[in-house]
Amino acid sequence: MAKMNKTDSPRLVDFSAQYKRLLESKMRESVNRLPAPEILKDSMLYSLEAGGKRIRPLLLFATLDAFGKDPEMGMWTAAAIEMIHTYSLIHDDLPSMDNDDLRRGKPTNHKIFGEAVAILAGDALLTYSFQMIAETPDQFVDAAGKVALIRHLAEAAGPQGMVGGQTADMLGEGKKLTLDELKYIHEHKTGKMLTYSVTAGAIMAGADEETIRKLEKFSRHLGLAFQIRDDILDLEGQEEMLGKRVGSDESNQKTTYPSLLTLEGAKRALDEEIALAKKYLVETGLSTNLLEEITDLVANRNN
Ligand code: IPE
Ligand code: IPE
Ligand code: MG
Ligand code: MG
Ligand code: MG
Repeated sequence: MAKMNKTDSPRLVDFSAQYKRLLESKMRESVNRLPAPEILKDSMLYSLEAGGKRIRPLLLFATLDAFGKDPEMGMWTAAAIEMIHTYSLIHDDLPSMDNDDLRRGKPTNHKIFGEAVAILAGDALLTYSFQMIAETPDQFVDAAGKVALIRHLAEAAGPQGMVGGQTADMLGEGKKLTLDELKYIHEHKTGKMLTYSVTAGAIMAGADEETIRKLEKFSRHLGLAFQIRDDILDLEGQEEMLGKRVGSDESNQKTTYPSLLTLEGAKRALDEEIALAKKYLVETGLSTNLLEEITDLVANRNN
């Protein structure tokens, strides 16, 4: 496959339509074939199929593409990432967490299935994700590669990653946090899973340590930018486009980038993070046109 460079025309629209379709059927089939109670499967599929942006899987596919690899080898890990992300949203929306009633343009999982099933659907998506990676055919990833993918996913999603960030986020409610404290929250609750989406692709592609470190820097800034944009959209987004309520952060008394820096200051911080992300992306020397397009999407997204 011929590699493309920055002067080529945008590829993301077609690329994302193709791989989202493949990912969505992979997730649907994987849940449908489970010997498990129907209500649990219905609840898992309700949130998986509600239509997220699939940014994390796209980062993984685009990273494989940057190394000249076939993105389809990442399908199992991409499904795992999207399952963990979806579980985190189901739990994030619960009454004891952010208490939200709209997600991905539909009533939140617990509004349809009740809190107990919503919690269990989240648990099921979390645990099933590790099985998904283990099921990657050996021709794509060998046993040692799968252990590395599983280990890094556990680190990104667990106490030293996303769940740690969510905990700090919850403990910070009602307090005015410093910018460093808020950065810790954003880098963990959102950033770690975005970083994993990129580094998992690099691991699968057999990248050297130095390239992985550069991609980590890129994705750290991208992850922070992603959550700063999320904070901005919670203030000035349109509910119909976002598919979730605006004003959730204020009603939960969250410190956010706009609350600390003003809306203008938050937008400047977003621009700075995007510029840094792009700088490190260029340093990798890979064919990164899709990753660049995703970076622009993160900066300008309205949903
Ligand atoms: C929302 O994530 C939660 C955050 C970590 C900010 P996304 O904005 O990726 O949500 P979906 O998957 O598109 O619904
Ligand atoms: C969610 O952050 C982060 C998770 C890991 C679930 P938010 O609470 O800001 O996400 P939204 O705005 O509800 O999507
Ligand atoms: Mg939250
Ligand atoms: Mg929330
Ligand atoms: Mg938010």
